[in-house]
Parts: sequence; C-alpha cells; structure tokens
Amino acid sequence: MTAFRVTDEIAGATRRLADAGIEAPRADAEWLLCHVLGIDRGRLLVADDLTVDAAARYRDLVDRRAQRIPLQHLTGSAAFGPLELSVGPGVFVPRPETEWLLEWAVSELPGVCAPVVVDLCSGSGALAIGIAALVPTARVFAVEKSPEAGEWLRRNIIHCAVADRCVAVRADVTDRHGALDALTEAGWEGPADLVVSNPPYVPEGTDTSVEVGWDPHAAVFGGDDGMSVITPMLPLIGALLRPGGVAGIEHDETTAPAVLAAAQMSGLFTEVTGHDDLTGRPRFVTMRRADAGAGEPRARMAE
Ligand SMILES: C[S@@+](CC[C@H](N)C(=O)[O-])C[C@H]1O[C@@H](n2cnc3c(N)ncnc32)[C@H](O)[C@@H]1O
Repeated sequence: MTAFRVTDEIAGATRRLADAGIEAPRADAEWLLCHVLGIDRGRLLVADDLTVDAAARYRDLVDRRAQRIPLQHLTGSAAFGPLELSVGPGVFVPRPETEWLLEWAVSELPGVCAPVVVDLCSGSGALAIGIAALVPTARVFAVEKSPEAGEWLRRNIIHCAVADRCVAVRADVTDRHGALDALTEAGWEGPADLVVSNPPYVPEGTDTSVEVGWDPHAAVFGGDDGMSVITPMLPLIGALLRPGGVAGIEHDETTAPAVLAAAQMSGLFTEVTGHDDLTGRPRFVTMRRADAGAGEPRARMAE
C-alpha cells in the first residue's frame, strides 16, 4: 500500500506552489497540511502518514492555492495578533503589516480608565477585536460600510468572545453626520479616547498580487491618489475624539506625505506624526485632537 508521508507531501506541494509563483511556498504547503490534519504547525513533522482521504483533500487544496486563491480563503481563517479571524469572499483578509497599528493603539491605552475606541473601516474586525481582546477595559465600536464585510465582522465579534464590549456599526465613514447618528444608535455616548483606521488606500492602477484580486475592490483601492476615503474621514475623526484623544491611520507606502498634509491642513489635530515599520517603510500616521483648552485626558488613572 502507498504511504503518504508528511515530508514527501510537503516537499511535493512546495514544488508545486513554487512553480505557481507563490511567495512563501513551503510555509503555505505546511499551513494547508495543518488545516487538513487539524494540528498546529509545531506538530507537523511528528504527524502520522496521511490517509488516502486526507492526501486527496490536501492535494486538492494545493491545486487551488496554485491557482492563486489566497491561503486564508482556503483555510477560512486569518491570524492577526492574538486572534484567529474568520474570512472569506466579501471581506478583506487582514494583513500582518496592520499589526503595527494594533501595537501602537494598545500602547496608547494603559493609562486611560475604561477607554472608548472607534475602529473606522473595520472589515473582519482585525483592529477592533484585537484592541478589545488586548485591553479588557476598552469599549470598542467597529464601523463598516459593506453589508458583506459586516456579516464577517459580527461573526468574528461573537467567535472571539468580545460581544459584551465590541459593537458592529454599519456606516459610511466619509459621511460624518450619518456615521455619528449610526454610532449613537449603537450606544456610543461620548467622545472617543482613540480612533484607529485601516481604510482602503491603494491608488487605483497600482500593480498588486493576484491574491489581492480576491479582496473586495472597495476594501483595497482609495481612488486615483489613495486618499478618497482618508481625506473625507478626517472630520469624522475630529468629531469622535475628545480633546487630547489620539488617532492612527494606516496608508499606502507612497502616500505618507499626502496623509500628513491632509491631517495638518484639516486644522483639527496637533502632533501629526508619520511612523515607519522596522524595514523603514512608511506605515501609518498618528495625530492628537486639538481643541481650546485641550490636553487633559478624559479619565486618567492616578499617576
Ligand atoms: C483595507 S480594508 C481593512 C479592514 C480591516 N480594518 C483590516 O485592517 O483588516 C478597508 C475596509 O474599509 C471598508 N470601507 C471602504 N469604504 C468605506 C467607507 N466609506 N465607510 C466605511 N467602511 C468603508 C471596506 O469595506 C473594508 O472592509
């Protein structure tokens, strides 16, 4: 009887995926096999030989990955910070680079008592749910326009067990009054301490990988200059934040100067600052809400 050895299957799959132009063929081959076997990656090399049925399912998934269907659409989930989020058609697959913004957001909250957080353009809920999971005292509002993405968002809020502190809100972030009304209807009562956003920001016409074609177009592209959501979203951020509250917006590598200029020119913010990742790529811009008499945090714990 033929044995379907784990090492042979992974080697064959890696070759197949490399030939198809997959960026990390070995890693994808391993993740797909973990998915079929229902085990962690650390257990792969001590796993038993595959059954005929498991080998057939594995090879089918490898074939589909070779057609450039995203790994996360095949496994149905995406790792993001401490989370495993459900994803699939109709929702943007969260990317590892957004973890920089999550890390910054969480670092802003330790001194704030019962922080109120708003995530604009929430998608699967990566940032909103990530913050709710990492900061148990936070109350988080996750704003998303697309009904399809909103379904994934609601599902993830429940599966990640943060439904008592994280609320999905359907609204267009470029419509300040409409979004404020929708937030108020969802229970938002007062100013936010922190706003985060990973909006659609890729300039139209930019070359992207085949896999990006599986994300909804409106989740990825932000008009000819990448600013079609970011610029009109700024007045909403200004209206949401308390004086002294902070916001962070992820952007395209090419648009840091435009985001910095738009935030400065809005007249709503001080301390407008660009942030690079460890490879030196511009990743996100942060800002602090300015106002007459601003500066005192809403409810700081005793120093
Ligand atoms: C780049 S995805 C980011 C999703 C998620 N925040 C993440 O980091 O994985 C952008 C999201 O913004 C949503 N979106 C696009 N335009 C919007 C708008 N005008 N108002 C609210 N959401 C919008 C898209 O549907 C998509 O879910």
